[in-house]
Amino acid sequence: MAEIIREDGLFHLRNDAISYVMREMPGGVLAHLYAGPRLARVNAANLLAHAGMPADGTFSVQEMALDKLPREYPSFGLGDMREGALTVRAADGTTAVDLRLETAEILETKPALEGLPATFGDDCAALRLTLKDAHTGLKVELNYAIYDDCPAVVRSARLVNGGEAPLTVTRAFSLCLDLPDDDWQLITLSGGWARERSVYRRALVPGEQGVSSRNGASSLQASPFLALARPQGTESAGEVVGAALIYSGNFTATVAATQYGAARAQIGINDRDFAWQLLPGEALQTPEAALVFSDAGIGGMSRGFHRLWQNHLLPRRWMNRPRPILLNSWEAAYFDFDEEKLVSIAAAAAEMGAELFVMDDGWFGRRDDDTTSLGDWDVDARKLPGGLGRLGDRVRALGLQFGIWMEPEMISPESELYRAHPDWCLRIPGREDITGRHQLILDMGRADVQDFVVESVSRTLRDSGASYLKWDMNRNFSNIGSAVLPPERQGEVPHRYMLGLYAVMERLVRAFPDVLFEGCSSGGGRFDAGLLYYVPQYWCSDDTDALRRCRIQYGTSMLFPPSTIGAHVSAVPNHQTGVVTPLETRFAVALGGTFGYELDPRALSPEEREALRGQVAFASETQMLRLYGDFYRLVSPFEGDMTAWMSVSADRAEALLTVVRDLSHPNSMPPMVRLQGLDAAKRYRVRETGEVYGGDELMRIGLCCPLGNGIAASLVYRLAAVEE
Ligand code: GLA
Repeated sequence: MAEIIREDGLFHLRNDAISYVMREMPGGVLAHLYAGPRLARVNAANLLAHAGMPADGTFSVQEMALDKLPREYPSFGLGDMREGALTVRAADGTTAVDLRLETAEILETKPALEGLPATFGDDCAALRLTLKDAHTGLKVELNYAIYDDCPAVVRSARLVNGGEAPLTVTRAFSLCLDLPDDDWQLITLSGGWARERSVYRRALVPGEQGVSSRNGASSLQASPFLALARPQGTESAGEVVGAALIYSGNFTATVAATQYGAARAQIGINDRDFAWQLLPGEALQTPEAALVFSDAGIGGMSRGFHRLWQNHLLPRRWMNRPRPILLNSWEAAYFDFDEEKLVSIAAAAAEMGAELFVMDDGWFGRRDDDTTSLGDWDVDARKLPGGLGRLGDRVRALGLQFGIWMEPEMISPESELYRAHPDWCLRIPGREDITGRHQLILDMGRADVQDFVVESVSRTLRDSGASYLKWDMNRNFSNIGSAVLPPERQGEVPHRYMLGLYAVMERLVRAFPDVLFEGCSSGGGRFDAGLLYYVPQYWCSDDTDALRRCRIQYGTSMLFPPSTIGAHVSAVPNHQTGVVTPLETRFAVALGGTFGYELDPRALSPEEREALRGQVAFASETQMLRLYGDFYRLVSPFEGDMTAWMSVSADRAEALLTVVRDLSHPNSMPPMVRLQGLDAAKRYRVRETGEVYGGDELMRIGLCCPLGNGIAASLVYRLAAVEE
């Protein structure tokens, strides 16, 4: 049960798992006291002694006292020599901010965030602290919530110019977390196209370290997330704190060990080139950040995030609901198709038992390759003479749902749209436009562009009757300028873009509540908690090679549950790596996500097609366990050449284990994989071998996993508790 306790100047947010404690210091400075596993009570004397404060409880900011104080929402320039969370340039040109607590309100319900995705739910306790800087009149509302069922606190800041003169906000992070020691290792997720979210772990040292994006999207290169784990901590043991930003644009996530051996972690919108004009009376809402605490290792943190997103962020319509098993046309046909070809692929998909056929890129304008037509969302009658309606109807007549691909935020210079509206893209007048994948980016901050995007997507959905839309976004920002903003507001363009995108998504998901939206960005280039508020699943990576995918999905699972991870079986030799892996291993790996196919089933042998029928049946039967069970990573592909994971049902009566090995080892013993998450007192039958083992022995000794020879051998075992 979540609650907020106010006593002795403390604000103590608490549920059954965790506590988060702040203190109002004399004079109104807001100190951060504790964040971690649940505490019954907190005595602030510890904090005061640690921060060098007088034992009598008095406090003054004199003598640079702020530099040692753990702070809740700090700024630089008044004695705290660490990086601050807030920088605001006042009319006099100075940038220091001195926030003092004015009011504290315990709220009945958690307020929604203006224009931004955020967690929601009634089963929470919410707190608003309002602070003020007397010099400028700036007010900062810090909003907090703690849910009954998650080891997490979410928080955001809302800045209001309560003064008489304009202010310029050049940094407004969502979260600062001051920790009393620096004995941590930093974990981040980084990568690139076709290698998203590799796990990096390193010792914390003095100086800022972390990850960030200025790409205009959360990016392929880094995820808006960081975790701190104790050096001895493992996947299943030790204290971990994770921070994630519910935002899809430029971000920064940093941590530094301080000169006094403490640590400060921060996450928020990237402040590089960010400058937001705040006129008197105007407000700026930061994205929400989530903090998750675990004393059961990194896996415990991941399950905390999974639960937070599943119970309080993902679209309700799709929660705990089966997802259609789909076949996507991209790797089957690329741009080269016509109606008959698509219908025959769909017919083969229907025969396998698939539920949804998705037509990917290439159906509009004159899009025979990626050089033209983005923005011209009219069907290409050369390929589809009967229009989207007839194709959709023919696919549905096969017993399948119909889905479609769009890249709504983009504009090809070679398009009717560009000829009509050359000023609709991000552009710096007088500079050469830089294309990426031959395309420019629509200025989503503009109201007319937003209307155009809503209208094009709505028309496409209506004309095709599609029940699924793959929303792609395939290039990084450049030429960051907007034709509709004055010079002093050009530093607002990337964030205004995100606000525009979210406004569009909000309008569309409301207008089409039954359509399943899947996100995509050259694979997983904008796979973040912001987008997941609108799209319950995200294409994880353009790399569909089973072995590469083990790494990508393993890293992705740090933060996101299998129900969000788009994962498909593709053809061999793999189109990205050229590697040939066994069909059963491609299947085993795709079971780690929403599951589907990215191949031409007509090109398969009768035996393979028969195998696919069995796969679809298995994927469907195990779907609720795979997508919504508790997820445990067992063996890391970043530490050896094997990967193993399992999903366990909430009642711990069922589990699904997957093990994949890159290459066989001659003259070795079969691996023992220690399972997790089972009931130690229960006995489990392994369906595939018929053997029965105690949950305790499976977790303590492990399960012998005889993998075959060759490249990419795998096994998938189903475990069920038995009465004995
Ligand atoms: C991106 C996506 C792919 C596919 C292509 C189409 O690369 O990640 O899945 O949709 O675009 O052009």
